[in-house]
Amino acid sequence: MTETLTLRRPDDWHVHLRDGDMLAAVAGYTARQFARAIVMPNLSPPVTSVAAAESYRNRIRLAVPEGMDFTPLMTIYLTDDSDPDEMARGHEKGVFTAAKLYPANATTNSAAGVSDIANLGKVLERMERIGMVLCVHGEVTDPAVDIFDREAVFIDRILTPMVRDFPALRIVLEHITSEQAAQFVADAPPNIGATITPHHCIINRNAMFAGGMRPHAYCLPVAKRERHRIAVRAAATSGDSSFFLGTDSAPHARGAKESACGCAGIFNAPYAIETYARIFEEDGVLDRLEGFASEHGAHFYGLPLNEETITLRRSDAVVPDRLDGDLVPFMAGETPGWSLD
Ligand code: NCD
Ligand code: ZN
Repeated sequence: MTETLTLRRPDDWHVHLRDGDMLAAVAGYTARQFARAIVMPNLSPPVTSVAAAESYRNRIRLAVPEGMDFTPLMTIYLTDDSDPDEMARGHEKGVFTAAKLYPANATTNSAAGVSDIANLGKVLERMERIGMVLCVHGEVTDPAVDIFDREAVFIDRILTPMVRDFPALRIVLEHITSEQAAQFVADAPPNIGATITPHHCIINRNAMFAGGMRPHAYCLPVAKRERHRIAVRAAATSGDSSFFLGTDSAPHARGAKESACGCAGIFNAPYAIETYARIFEEDGVLDRLEGFASEHGAHFYGLPLNEETITLRRSDAVVPDRLDGDLVPFMAGETPGWSLD
């Protein structure tokens, strides 16, 4: 059995770093593992301008512990009124790596998101022309659609027409959770990719109800049936370069999770790469981890591969029940089986 595993340093193509005290608490977890991360713009208020993104990027840089080399890649939060010129200016200036589409009210801090995709015509047309990546939260918000079907219905109602109308647009369907999403991306041309979280490879929807309500297993898109978990995990470990690492680490204070109306989000940053290593090892394809974690995403975004490496070592370390006082990490009480040097 391999005792150590050395990989090209990975990137996280979808993370919530938050702001203020939470940013200060969590930035180091991401920065110690990942060279770069696509940082989600769903702050309150959301990051909708070049100035706001530059200022947020500075706050992130200040929050990263001394000696860690980490590049935050910023995103612009799209709204019904997004100005294509402001977006393109930020892209040109190297501030915006991507734009983020939240359907209005789909998830945490998405109230200012897009209420009708028709409002984005000019924005998507410009993105297609300048080659800017669109990151998509792929769930419809129609209350008539069952929550477990919202990703599949989004693919039919929104994504399929979008790909038809903007065939050259580079789209990342984020944090996929269903066999429909895995199949759609596998069949799509190479300008369509997807990120996959560690939790959606490990838990199915039963995890939210195991012996009682389990708010720390609740995130959006919500975990689905076992058959979907298997399909998503198979996509992650397939070696197909359309699929790449995106943790969707989404910390919320414990009280905001353990509540009558608990927030959606799983905080997996502290042991993310260790957890992915366990998934690939269990599936007998540890040799494909590096592609998924460190290469496919960079190729998709047209960015250089990281030159440095990280080393994971076999370990019995147990994920703590709490971190930073009040955060409950994914895999609390469990043993990923690896530790980052
Ligand atoms: C995210 C958050 O808390 O910001 N929550 C989540 O469940 N993933 C938002 C999101 O990515 O949907
Ligand atoms: Zn997210």
